[in-house]
Amino acid sequence: MIKEDKQLIKRIKELKKQRNAVILAHNYQLPEVQDIADFRGDSLELSRIAAKTDAQVIVFCGVHFMAETAKVLSPDKLVIMPDSSAACPMAGMICADDLKKLKAKYPNAVSVGYVNTSAEVKAELDYCCTSSNAVAVVNALKDKKEIIFVPDKYLAEYVSKKTGRKLITWSAFCPTHVKILPEDVLREKKFHPRAKVMVHPECLSSVAALADAVISTGLMSKMAKESPAKEFIVGTEMGLVYRLKADNPDKEFYPASERAVCPNMKRTTQEKVLWALEELKEEIKVSEDIRRKAKLAIDRMLEIV
Ligand code: 13P
Ligand code: SF4
Repeated sequence: MIKEDKQLIKRIKELKKQRNAVILAHNYQLPEVQDIADFRGDSLELSRIAAKTDAQVIVFCGVHFMAETAKVLSPDKLVIMPDSSAACPMAGMICADDLKKLKAKYPNAVSVGYVNTSAEVKAELDYCCTSSNAVAVVNALKDKKEIIFVPDKYLAEYVSKKTGRKLITWSAFCPTHVKILPEDVLREKKFHPRAKVMVHPECLSSVAALADAVISTGLMSKMAKESPAKEFIVGTEMGLVYRLKADNPDKEFYPASERAVCPNMKRTTQEKVLWALEELKEEIKVSEDIRRKAKLAIDRMLEIV
């Protein structure tokens, strides 16, 4: 293990103060990045913090769509990413034109889209949702006959099962979560028969079917704290396991699969955070027209939850 550089961390803290900056880190970030963050959380929690913070600079340690969402909600703040090449491949599997065509095919459908999309795609949506509120958003659309749900086909399948609604779907997926297989969960269950199984809704449906809870990373963190269970099998990206262990030292967490690593989430390092704070780069920009439209979809989601 690389030794922690105290001088580097000290400088990050000084610059944070000077710049009036806040560091937000997604639950999948490297341990060294989670350790220097002011807030860690899932997509919804981080968007809420971004919308509320008084800081003038938001250093977003995550993937591009998350930083873009922060910019959509906080247009007057400077949102920077320590490594702006960190993109979510699932978000790249649908573009605004794809969604426009789908909407043209189903002109009476209301459109719901996962937060793992670009701002251009969000601008075309009626409602945004995250993994923690997708079921609630679709349940709130009881009076709508047709619902488009993009882009994640596994999240869509899970939501459809929970709500009993037939959804018009897209074929995107998370390359990291589909690496977790049912046999991984079954193997861990055999080793740890008392453990509760929590998996992310981006997992294969055959994996979700084996879980005690199918929830967002933020809700996994809550469940780990509040459940009387002492052992958990964690079916999501490996970064969350670090956070769960740090927050609950008296409990045991077993990753369902150590193959579940999102390379884009691991691009950000402490050095890059320092660099970003020194030079106030890379700035995330969203055009005002797209921003206003994308914000409507996010605001409608926040009204429901
Ligand atoms: P959460 O909102 O659950 O953190 O999920 C984000 C994500 O990208 C999952 O792969
Ligand atoms: Fe995207 Fe999957 Fe990485 Fe999440 S884990 S950011 S959905 S590629």
